[in-house]
Amino acid sequence: MKILSIETSCDETAVSIIKASGKAESPIIKVLGNALFSQAKLHEKFGGVYPNLAKREHARNLPRLLHKALSEAKLIRKSKLPSLSPKEKARIEKELIRENQMADDLIVMLGKIKKPSIDAIAVTQGPGLEPALWVGISMAKTLGFTWEIPIIPINHMEGHILSVLYNPKKEKNVLPFPALALLVSGGHTELVLMSKLLSYKLLGRTRDDAVGEAYDKVARMMNLPYPGGPVVAALAEKSRKIGKKNSWVFPRPMIHSDDFDFSFSGLKTAVLYGIDKKKLSPRQKEFVAEAFEDAVVEVLIHKTRLALKKYKVRSLILGGGVIANTHIRLAFEKLVKDFPEVTLFMPTKELSTDNSIMIGVAGYVRAKSIPQKSKKKGAFSAIGNLRLSS
Ligand code: KG4
Ligand code: ZN
Repeated sequence: MKILSIETSCDETAVSIIKASGKAESPIIKVLGNALFSQAKLHEKFGGVYPNLAKREHARNLPRLLHKALSEAKLIRKSKLPSLSPKEKARIEKELIRENQMADDLIVMLGKIKKPSIDAIAVTQGPGLEPALWVGISMAKTLGFTWEIPIIPINHMEGHILSVLYNPKKEKNVLPFPALALLVSGGHTELVLMSKLLSYKLLGRTRDDAVGEAYDKVARMMNLPYPGGPVVAALAEKSRKIGKKNSWVFPRPMIHSDDFDFSFSGLKTAVLYGIDKKKLSPRQKEFVAEAFEDAVVEVLIHKTRLALKKYKVRSLILGGGVIANTHIRLAFEKLVKDFPEVTLFMPTKELSTDNSIMIGVAGYVRAKSIPQKSKKKGAFSAIGNLRLSS
């Protein structure tokens, strides 16, 4: 089955087309088309994602990204006659009443092409910035009724988890259950237990800042650009390579708490007070980045180790933008060596940060597992704080 997927929860606008077959827990996935535009540069001057700008940019870029993904997938067939009736155009204008320009762009584009052979549309429903989510959902609904294709609403965090089912180097991945998932992104830090596919039990989560958020804030404190994660990670890596003793040490919040919750705002504040009023040299920034990252890694590894000891799982799944971090990836590879019965699943670096391929993969798993839900045509809305649910 071919799935078109759309992701607009934060500052990445993405559209992909995947071809998937096989069982939900071990699908065979091929990416036919993938178009992604990162707005990071535009948000840089705000030091973080500015919701209205994100929404405007999603609306501006979605039609061209849709066209790019469709043509990459060789699904564009030009139509000699206009393919939209006045009634269909009016319906699109009504659906996209708040996005006039996007409506016009889509009407021009859809009017020139024939309905592509796509079986379902998967779109991020939440969690994320609601105005941004709405743009993607409105486009999914528009394509859904114009082409008469069912829509599958997807939880973005489920997308991060299920992204590991797609491995560009392997035809298929088999995910053994039960599984433990650690999600670390800009908005989330949580440990989730999965007894089976699409079943989620939240074991613990951050009580304040998410790990990615802490990276971004620490970067900002040191006048480094947004998003801070990759920049701080690169400085930490540089410092580690130099290999000098680091006199900076930051706290490991909640490391000894008897649960699976996290807290990173204290670590962020410790960095803030630690560097307060000091003019940091480039070398000092590297030291701070290294010490900060060491604290993060130690907490993540410690809590995950506790959970692996308590719940006898067969897989450890890592997901979310922070998993693009090489140092963190290596630390988890080392951790699972102590648990020979556990297989580690990590998305590739490109698939760790936000993308629409993971939304397509989750769409396939949902379509295969709960076919009746995929029939839901338009009766759903954006949910900014959507939780994982079975
Ligand atoms: O999953 P994601 O792309 O978006 C959300 O759903 O939030 O995660 C984005 C977060 C940002 O906070 C970014 O700074 C962080 O992931 N990030 C990293 C790295 N690459 C991205 N953090 C640490 N090291 C990295 N290499
Ligand atoms: Zn994400």
